[in-house]
Amino acid sequence: MAPQRTNPEERILVVDDEESIRELVASMLSHAGYECQSAASGEEAISFLQADPNFALLLSDLSMDGMDGFALLERVRKLLPQLPVVMVTAVHDISVALEAIRSGAYDYLLKPFERDQLLATVHRALENRRLKMENSAYQDKLESLVAIRTELLQKAMSELERAMGELERSYDITLEALGDALDLKDAETEGHSKRVTAFTIAIARAMDLPSDRVRVIARGAFLHDVGKMAIPDAILRKPGRLTPEEQMLMREHAQLGYQMLRKIPFLHEAANIVYSHQERYDGSGYPRGLKGDQIPLGARIFAVADTFDAITSDRPYRAAQSISSARREILKHSGHQFDPTVVDTFISIPEDLWQRLREEIDSQGAVKRR
Ligand SMILES: [Fe+2]
Repeated sequence: MAPQRTNPEERILVVDDEESIRELVASMLSHAGYECQSAASGEEAISFLQADPNFALLLSDLSMDGMDGFALLERVRKLLPQLPVVMVTAVHDISVALEAIRSGAYDYLLKPFERDQLLATVHRALENRRLKMENSAYQDKLESLVAIRTELLQKAMSELERAMGELERSYDITLEALGDALDLKDAETEGHSKRVTAFTIAIARAMDLPSDRVRVIARGAFLHDVGKMAIPDAILRKPGRLTPEEQMLMREHAQLGYQMLRKIPFLHEAANIVYSHQERYDGSGYPRGLKGDQIPLGARIFAVADTFDAITSDRPYRAAQSISSARREILKHSGHQFDPTVVDTFISIPEDLWQRLREEIDSQGAVKRR
């Protein structure tokens, strides 16, 4: 038979209570180039393994006085689970040998055995151990690689989030300036943009929308009338009724606002809300006469918030009305002007929350006209 490849690191422990067999096996292995140690009992084998856990293979007799092969196998499985064990037993014990395999032995050898049989079995067991070790080393390496990658990725993500957060904040500051500018231009809307945004957010949150959606909807609400920047002051601030022509011009503000915002990537969705903020649930709104779900949800929420703010704010031609009468009015138009689902949520929000929101925004000091 071809010479086996041996590795001096791979030491074998031979356990047999019969000295002649022990020595025979050890000498066969030594001749083949393996380093061997012999133990005369299971107990001795355990003490050797405890003193030196780096054995590569345990070759054990099955029937021994004191600790037999099974008991030794059980101890070794706990002590050194990676250590392969080959059981050596007499021919008539084959069922017992199979039992040993089931209990975790790597293989068995039937006595009497030839030298080649012994070497082939030992070679296989060691090769198998080598493969397992390589595999587990590879897995360890892979795991640590993945752990490092994950950490890097998480770091990069949090950096990105921070940068995005900063970018969004600076955008929002710009937007706020825009909203304030609009409030200054339009006499009727002092503080309106901020209030209507707060009201829209309150309803959207009560509808359990995820926070990133609420953010988008809030921007749409805040900028809803941005198109009015392009409407002449003479129309925007006209104290009396608008002529039909003026009204047509005024109605263009929804589309004008959309055109202003749609090219800004992070305002793309908000732009759609701006475009649809004058639509009505029953299709009687403008500019496109959208109906029901055709209207973006953010715009349907906004519509309720906007009407609520209009009713509860002073107007040049009438004083502010109470929160409860605003609620009644909105409920009356549920399913017509407003999405009934949004109205249900709106009605479920307690009155004092609206009161507190309004007070808080007013105390922040909406930009005052001179
Ligand atoms: Fe509007």
